[in-house]
Formats: sequence, structure tokens, C-alpha cells
Amino acid sequence: MKVITARKYGPPEVLQLEEWETPSPKKNEIRVKIYNTSVNSADWRIRKPDPNLARLFFGITKLKQPILGGSISGVIDSVGENITKFKIGDKIFGSTGLGMGAYAESICLPESAVITILPKEISFPEGAALPFGSLTALDFIQRCKIQKNQTMVIYGASSSVGTAAIQLAKHFGAKITAVCSKGNFELVKSIGADLVMDYEEFHSDSHNKTYDVVFECVGKSSIPSNLKHLTKGGNLVLVAAPFKDMFKAAWISFTRKINIKFGPIAETIDNLKFLAELTKKGNFKVIIDRSYPLEKMVEAHRYVEAGHKKGNVVIHCAT
Ligand SMILES: NC(=O)c1ccc[n+]([C@@H]2O[C@H](COP(=O)([O-])OP(=O)(O)OC[C@H]3O[C@@H](n4cnc5c(N)ncnc54)[C@H](OP(=O)(O)O)[C@@H]3O)[C@@H](O)[C@H]2O)c1
Repeated sequence: MKVITARKYGPPEVLQLEEWETPSPKKNEIRVKIYNTSVNSADWRIRKPDPNLARLFFGITKLKQPILGGSISGVIDSVGENITKFKIGDKIFGSTGLGMGAYAESICLPESAVITILPKEISFPEGAALPFGSLTALDFIQRCKIQKNQTMVIYGASSSVGTAAIQLAKHFGAKITAVCSKGNFELVKSIGADLVMDYEEFHSDSHNKTYDVVFECVGKSSIPSNLKHLTKGGNLVLVAAPFKDMFKAAWISFTRKINIKFGPIAETIDNLKFLAELTKKGNFKVIIDRSYPLEKMVEAHRYVEAGHKKGNVVIHCAT
């Protein structure tokens, strides 16, 4: 099978095509022929790495797992003898988690992985684009316990997390103000934003509105600039807080009793199923910006790392 590996940390050019033997599933594993994966912001951060401290987890001098990629859609083509939940021929989608390994034509996963059946209403590319940003947005939105008619401002609304957050918060009844570049106004309005503003307007002195939830998706604005817009008792979400902001946020939460949500999300099968149901009913649409063949992974990484994708970037793997 074809795989894309990163044999060392570095720029997109460290990614290379290799031929590996197709793996065989263990007793408790399924094997998935991967039709699509996606390139997410986490992937280029791990490849670089950014932050450098990520080496403590992924490998000090080189990646312990050279095959990146955390989202898949595809078809099960082999099952271990203890598998009860899935069968050969099932179309599935989901996350491979921190084990990664999705930049490949095949992968073996335990049946307990965060995967579920891909409904016929969802395409394979959509299935691969769904898990990353949508599971992230859903987890943070659940932690905020959003109520009907609450106001929410989403900073970085055109990102993978942001495009999912708009639709999910809207689903739970929030009134959404989306903050993004002017060029993305139409996109965010088309998926449910009630109001739009660009970054300059958000930071301008004349913008003094407060919101029940301030949802910062991209880690590009400071904690004080967000707190300025938080209603008393509201929730500040820092999806992409760097380590120093996490310490700051924990300190502010503790000393000023402000609700600040940050840190890694919990990916769950229940949430994946929830997203599948919502999509099936036409109440959620994962946004796909571009797609590339597996062989063009270097280009895909360059594009995603540049930081201006709208929603998600998808890769075509096995055919
Ligand atoms: N906590 C967790 O567990 C968790 C999980 C997933 C992701 N994350 C983090 O969440 C962040 C977002 O991930 P993502 O995949 O959704 O990002 P993404 O899709 O790669 O973000 C791209 C978007 O960011 C916008 N952007 C770029 N520069 C900006 C700026 N200066 N101000 C505002 N927006 C700007 C771009 O809009 P323009 O083109 O208009 O600039 C573009 O649409 C990443 O840092 C990721 O590591 C955290």
C-alpha cells in the first residue's frame, strides 16, 4: 500500500511517498481501506513540530509514528476474529486519534476506536473532513452548555473548527456573530451566522458589545481582547491556546472566577454519531475547501500550514 511518511521533523518537503506492506488486523481489529483522509492544522504542527515541546509526546529526535493523519473514511475489508460491531463491507468514518496513521491506503484499528458507520447521505470526502473540527467544536460547545438565544461571537469563523462551531451553536439556538476576513462573509452567513464582522472591526474601540460565549478558534487574539467582550458569567473558549495562554487562563479562571475553557478535547463515538445524525438530516454540512491526491501531500501541507483554508482539506487515498 502507498503511505506518506515523515521520517524527520521539518517543512512540508519531509513528507514522502513509500510503499508498505498492507497490515493484517489483530483479533480485536478491523482493517479499513481508506478512501479519504484530511489534512488538519494538528498535522502540520506535529510535522514541524509546533510547539517544540510536542517532541516529548511524539518523539524526541523523530516521529515515533511516521505516518501522520487523524481522520479517515473508507470501507472495512478485513476483520479480526473477535470483532462483533463491524463486518466486511461496512462504510465507516472517524478519528484514528493520537495513533494517527491515516495518510495511507489501509489502516488497522481496534473496533473501540472513535469510528462509526458512514450514512449513505454523507460522502467519503465529507466523512474524512468531519471528525477534526466538528468534534472539537462540539466538545467545547457542550462544555459551555449553550442555551437558546444566548449570544456567541466566533473568532476565526472560517476555520475548520469555526465553520463547525457556527452550525452547531446555531443548532442549539445561539445567535452567532462570526469574525473572519471580508472574503469569507458569504461563506459564514451561508452556514448560519446572524452577523459578521472582520478582525479589525472586532478589535476596534467602537466594538464594545459583550457576548455570552466568546469562542476563539484560531489562537490569534489575546485573552484580554476576548475578555473585554465577555458578558459577566459567560464562557470564554480558547480552542487553540498556546501553553503560556493556558497557564494565564487557568490563573484568571482561578483568581477572577471567570469560566474559561481550553485544553485538549475528548473525541467520543457518541459525538461522532451525533454529527452523523445532524448531517444526515441536513442540519449540518462539513465545509470542504480543497482536495488533493495522496501523492500531493506536500502541496496539501503547504496550503494548510499557510493558515487560510476555509473549513477542511481532504486527501484521496485508495481508489
Ligand atoms: N483544543 C483542541 O483539542 C484542538 C482541537 C483541534 C484544533 N485545535 C486548534 O484549533 C486551531 C484551529 O484549527 P483549525 O483546523 O480549525 O484551523 P484552520 O482551519 O487551519 O484555520 C484556518 C483559518 O484561520 C483563519 N485565520 C488565519 N489567520 C487569522 C488571524 N490572524 N485571525 C483570525 N483568523 C485567522 C483563516 O482565515 P483568513 O484566511 O480569513 O485569515 C482560515 O480560515 C488550531 O490552532 C488547532 O491546533 C485545538
